Amino acid sequence: MEINNKFKIIHLKTTHSTNRDCVELGKEGKRNIIVVSDIQTKGKGRLDRFWYSNYGGLYFSILLDIKDINVEQINFIVSLSIVDTLKNYLTKDFGTVGRQKPKVFRIKFPNDIIVKNNSSIGYKKISGILGEINLNYGFVVVGIGININNSIDAEINNIATSLKEIGEKEFNKQDILNEFIINFNKYNKLTEKDILNKYKEYSATIGEKVKIITPNNEIIGIVQDIDFNGLYLKTEDNIVKNISVGDCIHLRNNNK
Ligand code: BTN
Repeated sequence: MEINNKFKIIHLKTTHSTNRDCVELGKEGKRNIIVVSDIQTKGKGRLDRFWYSNYGGLYFSILLDIKDINVEQINFIVSLSIVDTLKNYLTKDFGTVGRQKPKVFRIKFPNDIIVKNNSSIGYKKISGILGEINLNYGFVVVGIGININNSIDAEINNIATSLKEIGEKEFNKQDILNEFIINFNKYNKLTEKDILNKYKEYSATIGEKVKIITPNNEIIGIVQDIDFNGLYLKTEDNIVKNISVGDCIHLRNNNK
């Protein structure tokens, strides 16, 4: 497998959080490092949530110089790279043949990777991304958690799944990380327009009725479009609002 790897990879058996490790390295002036850990004792999720990080999952963070990337686009690029990586396993290992039903990886706004299914909410999350920016030191850390061979905690198994659960076998985490890096390098070379078009193709959120929860309020509406400024929500009073942050909950749409 050819990896054009400008990244130094640091592999740990355990750590608090690979994002935290990268932040420390970033403050020391280091750049282009990937920290990967077999487990994390304080895995951080979005909105200050806990990220379950038991053995078998793929937990890693990328430390980048702010000058080398487009901050607006980085989360889009990372989510696309994850979908393309996982999609590859779907075709290769458990496509539409046999008793396994076809599964589709999609991006739920802003950057959760989900698998559509028949659960009560209609999908389960397989991967999440946590971006952190440090303007003083001029770096960005993008942390990625992908449920691969790890068991899913009972507390979240109605909303989360793993590649093992879907594929009914174990997968090679190192291969998955290598393929992710190849895809990440590929998407970094695409134009803004191509990134956006691909994101829209993989979006599970465009066209959906959603509830957005921001620190100050909740808004319900139909998602008209998504771009680097966030999503465009048509509310019940027919006003289109641009929302860039918040928790996005897909409401079941029985007409679909
Ligand atoms: C989310 O809430 O969806 C984002 C989850 C991000 C988890 C990853 S695992 C590797 C990296 N280190 C962390 O502490 N968090 C990110």
